[in-house]
Amino acid sequence: MQQQYNAQNDHLLIWVGNQLYPRAEAKVSVFDSSVQGGDAVWEGLRVYNGRIFALDEHLNRLHESAKAMLFEGVPSLEFIKNAIFETLKANQMRNQAHIRLTLTRGEKITSGMDPRLNQKGCTLIVLAEWKQPVYGSAGVRLITASVRRNSPMNLDSKIHHNNLINNILAKIAANIANADDALMLDNYGFVSETNACNIFMVKNGTLYTPHADACLPGITRKKVLAIAQQIGLPFAEKNISLTEIYNANEVFTTGTMGELTKVWEIDGRKIENPHTTSILQLIQQHFTQLTQTEGEELPF
Ligand SMILES: Cc1ncc(COP(=O)(O)O)c(C=O)c1O
Repeated sequence: MQQQYNAQNDHLLIWVGNQLYPRAEAKVSVFDSSVQGGDAVWEGLRVYNGRIFALDEHLNRLHESAKAMLFEGVPSLEFIKNAIFETLKANQMRNQAHIRLTLTRGEKITSGMDPRLNQKGCTLIVLAEWKQPVYGSAGVRLITASVRRNSPMNLDSKIHHNNLINNILAKIAANIANADDALMLDNYGFVSETNACNIFMVKNGTLYTPHADACLPGITRKKVLAIAQQIGLPFAEKNISLTEIYNANEVFTTGTMGELTKVWEIDGRKIENPHTTSILQLIQQHFTQLTQTEGEELPF
């Protein structure tokens, strides 16, 4: 399912650097590191019921990504939180909003890749939009991309960076095949994640997900594993081959943008559940409850 323009977002106020700007004026410099080299880190967050879900976990991952990239002049957690609150308040968003939080290495004194050219500190962008979960209730069809998901051998997928070419090439392969998203493999040929989400499968009552070696260790992924533990559902992180996932009883993806989404076909193989109950539905119910009750309350 392709996202469409939402006119509700015509008049957004967007935080760039130290203040809010109307949508048409919210810009970074052509000298900004995000333009020069995709040299930025990001998070996607959701607002439910007057709360920001898993805010501290997202901010912690942002700071860890920035540390791994040796950013200088990183704004404090308090500054970032305040910028998020101010942005949501200015847009009167207390529900059904998605926040794209970006921290770039900042503006350079001249073009070039050398981080020593960055002498002004980081640029913070808080882009909050009205956005429902992006995948439809019918679920998604995947194809396997030929491009492999980055492993620590090349570029550690634990850094949530803006250099998304690896994922975008996989997404292009999915678009050409008329699929919703692409399944990506690691360097050994095991399933890692999709171009945008983590992946889970259920087989004979056990929940499986790949080790977080060549995928982002997603916050939704972590919540799903915690739900499994809480409800006594057997689960394991393991290497998963394509043959295993084609023959799973249920497959679903997880991520802030799309929450938990059923996968109904992979590479032309239908995912068939011989059981009358759905473990995905059970986990989904628990996840929805978490989003309505957990999270940092908005101060307005
Ligand atoms: C490649 C990739 N995998 C997985 C996820 C899901 O992570 P989370 O559950 O923290 O949103 C994302 C989200 O940005 C992502 O970009």
